[in-house]
Amino acid sequence: MDGNGRWAKQRGLPRAEGHRIGMESVRAMVRSCSELGVEYLTLYAFSSENWKRPRTEVAALMYLLEFFLKQEIPELNSNNVRLAVIGRTHDLPASAQKQLNKSIETLSKNTGMTLVLALSYGGRAEIVDAMRGIAREVKAGHLEIADIDEVVIARNLYTGSIPDPDLLIRTSGEMRISNFLLWQISYAEMYVTEVLWPDFRKPELLKALEDYSQRSRRFGLVNPPKAK
Ligand code: FPP
Repeated sequence: MDGNGRWAKQRGLPRAEGHRIGMESVRAMVRSCSELGVEYLTLYAFSSENWKRPRTEVAALMYLLEFFLKQEIPELNSNNVRLAVIGRTHDLPASAQKQLNKSIETLSKNTGMTLVLALSYGGRAEIVDAMRGIAREVKAGHLEIADIDEVVIARNLYTGSIPDPDLLIRTSGEMRISNFLLWQISYAEMYVTEVLWPDFRKPELLKALEDYSQRSRRFGLVNPPKAK
C-alpha cells in the first residue's frame, strides 16, 4: 500500500494524514474485494523495516491500526469477513496485540473473505522463522531431513494454511517486491500502477482485476493448466 507519504507531501500535509486517508482506501478495498468474491485479501500494512521510521510516524500507524480494528469490526462481521495476521506480531504494542486477538476471535466463525494483515512483516524474517520451526521439528525427532520439501516449508510459513496469492498489486509505480511474501509470490501475477495508495479505490481495483483477467498463467508450463 505504497504512496501515502507522497500523497500527503503533494498536498503539503503531514505524512500521517496520507496514512489516515490510506486507511480509507483499506476500508474501501476490504468492502469491494469482499463484494467481488475475493477469498483472501492480504494487505502489507507495516513491514519489519517500518520500525526504523520516525517514532511519531510509527505511533500514528499503530494508532490507525487499533482505530481501524475497533471501528470496522461490526462491518467486517456483517460482511462475513474473517481476520488473520502474519508477521512478528509480538513486536507490536501490547494494546494493538490485544485488539488484534480480540478482533480475530470475534470474526473467527465467519466464512467469507479472509482479510490478512501483514504487520511487523518481512519475507526474509518469515523464512528464518520457518527454518527455525523446521529445525526444531527435526531436533525433536518429529521430522526426517529427507522429508523436508516445499509442502513442509510452506506449512511452516506464517501463511501456513493460506493459499499463495494470484495477484500482487503495487501502488505508486515502484517496481520492487520490498520483502513481501517472497516464497508465496513465485507464480503471482504482478500489477503495478502509478496511482498512490490513498487514491486507490474501487475503479482502480476493477482495472487491476480486468488486467489480471487477460493474463495467461502458465506456471512454467507450455500450456496453461485448465481453470478449476
Ligand atoms: C507505505 O507508504 C505505507 C505504509 C508504510 C503504511 C500503510 C498503512 C495504511 C494504509 C494505513 C493503516 C492500515 C490499516 C490496515 C488500518 P509510504 O509511507 O512508504 O509512502 P511513500 O513511499 O510515498 O513515502
